[in-house]
Amino acid sequence: MKITSLLPLAFSIATVAGFVTAGEDSTLTIEGEVFVTKAAAPAHLENVDEIFSGWTFRLDETQALQMDDFDNPAFVFVDQALDQFEMVEGSAGKACSSCHDSAEVFSGLRASMPRVNSAGELETIPELINNCRTERMGAEKWKWSGGQMSAMLGLIGLQSRGMPVEVAIDGPAASFWEKGKELYYMRVGQLDMACSSCHEDNYGNMIRADHLSQGQINGFPTYRLKNAKLNTIHGRFKGCMKNIRATPFKEGSDEFKALELYVASRANGLSVETPSVRN
Ligand code: HEC
Ligand code: HEC
Repeated sequence: MKITSLLPLAFSIATVAGFVTAGEDSTLTIEGEVFVTKAAAPAHLENVDEIFSGWTFRLDETQALQMDDFDNPAFVFVDQALDQFEMVEGSAGKACSSCHDSAEVFSGLRASMPRVNSAGELETIPELINNCRTERMGAEKWKWSGGQMSAMLGLIGLQSRGMPVEVAIDGPAASFWEKGKELYYMRVGQLDMACSSCHEDNYGNMIRADHLSQGQINGFPTYRLKNAKLNTIHGRFKGCMKNIRATPFKEGSDEFKALELYVASRANGLSVETPSVRN
């Protein structure tokens, strides 16, 4: 039994019997492809034996939306990004497609990001995209969680759908990963909670009307029924920090990038599900 009494009343958490069996019964298949939604925890995880995709915790109706690309509302945005890919913008008179044959060239990228580049910097996909826009197209940056960026992230992530998440945490990534881990376990905000308070200590339990997941990011950007749009990883981190009444870090900040690397590594072995559907 998990300890729930220490949590603030505002976030009273109720245990639910039988979550794991429910999770084990459901299999995510899309167009005949079977996805890994639960797996043995990667070796670096100390307090969890098994990892689960957020899909596992959603209601049948929500799960079903992700199992058919025609029903999955995220594909409206993926289609927009396909058009955007061909669109000439900026002073160099180029489109993404002027240099990248098609989005398919990005196959595998989503599964291994974020990563450390040759300059020793931790880089994320939004930064790679904006770098092409400002340095190679002479175009304006896109906002981190703006509509165009989220859609392009959906299109690029889709090219890795079904591949196992496999981010590097050693070598030059180690110091970023350590920083991300520290942030994951750091209690913050008026409610004095850490990411781990909910997503490690209490996954499978109910928080208000919501079934708590492990807070994995293998499905991002994710279409949320709540706001009817694609949501970015840093956008979601921000929302969770606001919910515990902490001052969130900025999207694209070093803190969120490190946290992204750490959280991504907690899903090493699960399938990329981009673009996923959640509530
Ligand atoms: C003028 C040419 C050019 C244009 C236009 C361009 N890119 Fe790039 N892009 C590059 C080059 C060169 C690289 C680095 C080498 C590589 O990975 O292909 C790159 C790298 C990338 C990467 C990282 C790929 C990887 O595997 O590391 C992404 C993602 C990307 N571009 C997306 C885009 C998007 C989206 C657009 C349109 C908004 C765009 N690019 C426009 C030339 C361009
Ligand atoms: C008070 C509890 C609580 C805390 C603390 C919390 N979250 Fe969440 N988080 C939720 C709830 C509730 C949801 C929506 C249901 C779910 O997917 O777990 C959620 C969802 C998420 C998701 C989406 C998962 C998916 O499959 O789409 C991610 C990612 C996430 N949280 C990351 C974090 C990170 C990182 C932190 C720490 C900065 C954090 N959360 C702190 C309650 C919390």
